[in-house]
Amino acid sequence: MGNFSDTGNPGLRGAGSGGSDHNGAIRVIIPRDRIAARIGELAGELTACYGSGELTIVGVMTGAFVFLADLMRSLEMPIRLDIVSVCSYPGESTESRGPQLILPPTADLTGRDVLVVDDILDSGRTMTFLLNLFSAARPESLRTCVLLRKDLGESVERPDADFVGFDVPDAFVVGYGLDYDDLYRGLPDLCVLDPSGAGEVSQ
Ligand code: IMP
Ligand code: MG
Repeated sequence: MGNFSDTGNPGLRGAGSGGSDHNGAIRVIIPRDRIAARIGELAGELTACYGSGELTIVGVMTGAFVFLADLMRSLEMPIRLDIVSVCSYPGESTESRGPQLILPPTADLTGRDVLVVDDILDSGRTMTFLLNLFSAARPESLRTCVLLRKDLGESVERPDADFVGFDVPDAFVVGYGLDYDDLYRGLPDLCVLDPSGAGEVSQ
């Protein structure tokens, strides 16, 4: 783990899978090899928690889909997968207006060990909303795993995640599944849109 320093933007070279003009206003904060290494560690933490028992993962679309795919393939216990889709930042807004459930879960979560996997814990409104929704189904256990946890200081009241990939500064993060206005999801590294808003990243 440890700290992550600015790596320049090697991940953006030839990565134009989002088809957008990056204008140089994007900076890699966590390169793909560090993501892969941390996912291996997370898999170990999850295995220590759940053992070899069956796990029901509920992935939160769309931002978590890349993380979800890599995390799932690092786990060896039997996994059932469900997805929900939650919209938090409609259009070009970078301010959360509260989650809206676009696609509800289909699996019966009752009596299951349920792990909610999301891309980033920001205000916590999405996670609060989903935890309320899923706990109503009376799962055996209900935990959360996020790739990123945004540092919002002490003032914000939010549910903490049980498993966290990286702590990141309060900047808008894109890449590795995360978008801004539906762009940049295909970038293989985690990046910040506005370099002036970013600092060191740690876990
Ligand atoms: P929250 O409800 O404020 O915690 O927001 C969580 C959701 O908002 C995440 O699942 C993301 O989809 C989205 N989100 C929050 N911060 C960012 C960001 O920096 N980049 C991209 N998406 C974000
Ligand atoms: Mg999301």
